[in-house]
Amino acid sequence: MENDQTSVHVSLPHGGGYPILIEWGCIDRLGSLLRRESIEGEVFLLSDRKVWGLYGDALEAGMEASGYRILEKLILEPGEESKSLANWMAALDRLVALEDGTARSLFLVNLGGGVIGDIGGFVAASYRRGIPCVQVPTSLLAQVDSSVGGKTGVNHPGGKNLIGAFYQPRLVVADLKTLKTLDPREVRSGLVEVVKYGLIWDAAFFAYLEENFGRVLDLEEEALRKVVRVSCEVKAAVVGRDEKEQKGLRTLLNLGHTFGHALEAATQYRQYTHGEAVAVGTLCATWISVALDMLPSAHYARILSLFERIGLPTRVSEAETDRLWEAMKRDKKFIHGRNRFVLLDEIGKARVVEDIDPTILEQALEAHLHGNTDS
Ligand SMILES: NC(=O)c1ccc[n+]([C@@H]2O[C@H](COP(=O)([O-])OP(=O)(O)OC[C@H]3O[C@@H](n4cnc5c(N)ncnc54)[C@H](O)[C@@H]3O)[C@@H](O)[C@H]2O)c1
Repeated sequence: MENDQTSVHVSLPHGGGYPILIEWGCIDRLGSLLRRESIEGEVFLLSDRKVWGLYGDALEAGMEASGYRILEKLILEPGEESKSLANWMAALDRLVALEDGTARSLFLVNLGGGVIGDIGGFVAASYRRGIPCVQVPTSLLAQVDSSVGGKTGVNHPGGKNLIGAFYQPRLVVADLKTLKTLDPREVRSGLVEVVKYGLIWDAAFFAYLEENFGRVLDLEEEALRKVVRVSCEVKAAVVGRDEKEQKGLRTLLNLGHTFGHALEAATQYRQYTHGEAVAVGTLCATWISVALDMLPSAHYARILSLFERIGLPTRVSEAETDRLWEAMKRDKKFIHGRNRFVLLDEIGKARVVEDIDPTILEQALEAHLHGNTDS
C-alpha cells in the first residue's frame, strides 16, 4: 500500500534541490503546503483556460485562506501554440506592470500541463534574472516528466523548444486527483513517458506496468501514486547526476524521441500527441536495438504488446513515413553518419549509440508501416 503522503527529493549535482509532493486532492490546500515549505511572497499565477476553469476557484480560495495574495494571473489558451515568445513577453509585461518602486517578493505558480510549466518556468527564469517558481502539474506527462528537472522554454517559428533555459523550480506539487478530468487520450500519452522510465532504468517497474497499466488508465489512486512516484524518482536520479545534459545520462530520457519528434513535425503536430509519436519512436529504437544484436527480439514483442494493450498507435502510414524520412534526409549531419539514438541493451538498461547506418534506420521505419507484419 502506498503512503498517502508521498514525496520525492531532487538533489542537484552542485548542491541544493527541491521536493516533489505527490498528493491526492490538494489543490485547495496548496497554500498550506507552500507555507510548510517556507515559500513566502506574493503570487503571479499562470494557467490555461481549461485547467483554470476546473481548478482555479479551489486554488485561489486555498491560497487566500493561507494568507497568500494573488497579485496577477495570466490565463492562456490551452494547447502547444500558447508556448510562444508572444505569451512569454505578455507575462513579462504583466510582471513589469506590477513594479511600483517597492521591493516586492514575488513567486510564480504554474498550474497546468507541460505547456504552462515550460513557459512559466522560463518566465520565472528570465524575470529579474530569476524569481522562485512552483510547478503544479495537472497532466500525467507534466507530473511524471516536464515539471521536474528544470528544462523550461518556448517554441520559436524555427523549431520547438528552441528558446529556453535550465531553471529549477522551488517546489513541485502533483495533485493526482486532477488527472480524473484529463482526456483519456492524454492519460495514454503520459503513460508512454512512464513506460520509458521502466525501459531505460528499471526492469521491475516495466514488469509492474505490464501487470497494472489498466489500473493507471482507470486512474486508481494507489496505481497513480506508484507510477508518479517511481517516475519522479528515476527523473530525480538522472537530473541529480546530469542536470544540464552534459554527461550523456540525461540523454537517455530521449528514448524514442528522435523518431518521435520527427513524426510530430512531419505531421504538423496535429496527427499524434507527443506521447503517441514517442511510442512509435520507442518501437523503432527497440527494433534497431534488435537489428544491431543488442537486444533479444522477444523484448521487442513485450514492448509492442504493452503499447498495443494501452491503446497507443504502433504503426504509421506510408505517406507519414515518406514525409518523416524526407525531413530526416534534409539533415545532412544525420544521414552522413553523425546521428545519435538511445537504444536498449536490455529492458531497464539503455545507452546512446552514434553513427547508425541510415539503411537500418529506414528499415526500422518500414517495419512500422500499416499493413507490414514483418517486425
Ligand atoms: N520541460 C520538460 O522537461 C518537458 C518534457 C516533456 C515534455 N515537455 C513539454 O510538455 C508539453 C506537453 O505537455 P502536456 O502533454 O501536459 O500538454 P498540455 O499542457 O498542452 O496539456 C494537454 C491538454 O490537457 C489539458 N489539461 C491539463 N491538465 C488537465 C486536467 N487535469 N484536466 C483536464 N484537462 C487538462 C490542457 O488544457 C491541454 O488541453 C510540450 O510542450 C512538451 O514540449 C517538456
